[in-house]
Amino acid sequence: MAIAWDDSFAIGDDEIDADHRAMMALIGRLQTITSGLGDGEAIVSAISQLRDLCFGHFLREEALQHRIGFPDIEAHRLGHQMLLKRLDAVLSHFAVGCDQIRAGILRTLGDSLATWMVFHITRGDIEMRPYVEATSRRRRGASSRRRSVTDHHPLIGA
Ligand SMILES: [Fe+2]
Ligand SMILES: [Fe+2]
Repeated sequence: MAIAWDDSFAIGDDEIDADHRAMMALIGRLQTITSGLGDGEAIVSAISQLRDLCFGHFLREEALQHRIGFPDIEAHRLGHQMLLKRLDAVLSHFAVGCDQIRAGILRTLGDSLATWMVFHITRGDIEMRPYVEATSRRRRGASSRRRSVTDHHPLIGA
């Protein structure tokens, strides 16, 4: 399964959308390097990079969920934890496993991560979009109310 960013994946938060783009790019690279015989070091380095990126992304995403009042944060967080555990298991199997185990992991890893990524956004993260939009509408409203008060204040405005 080829993986590529599509604007329909955007949840409307620049930082989270940038994370998702970077995760997709890294998973796409993993798909490429695991499709041939595979350079073990490059593969382990790409999986470790993805693990680190996901770790930071999940923290940023969960913090955003608190700020926007997203429901079911705990269930969402469990999904994040499961992926981190899976990536850790892949890394340790890769470190201690024989060539046969490594080949078995590589046969499905890239595609299953690509499927997970699309699922992560379209069945989970996308639900944040209306909350992100409502929060930015509230902020815009608050800042224009502040502006209109200062614009018309006899000691501040013209
Ligand atoms: Fe998520
Ligand atoms: Fe996410």
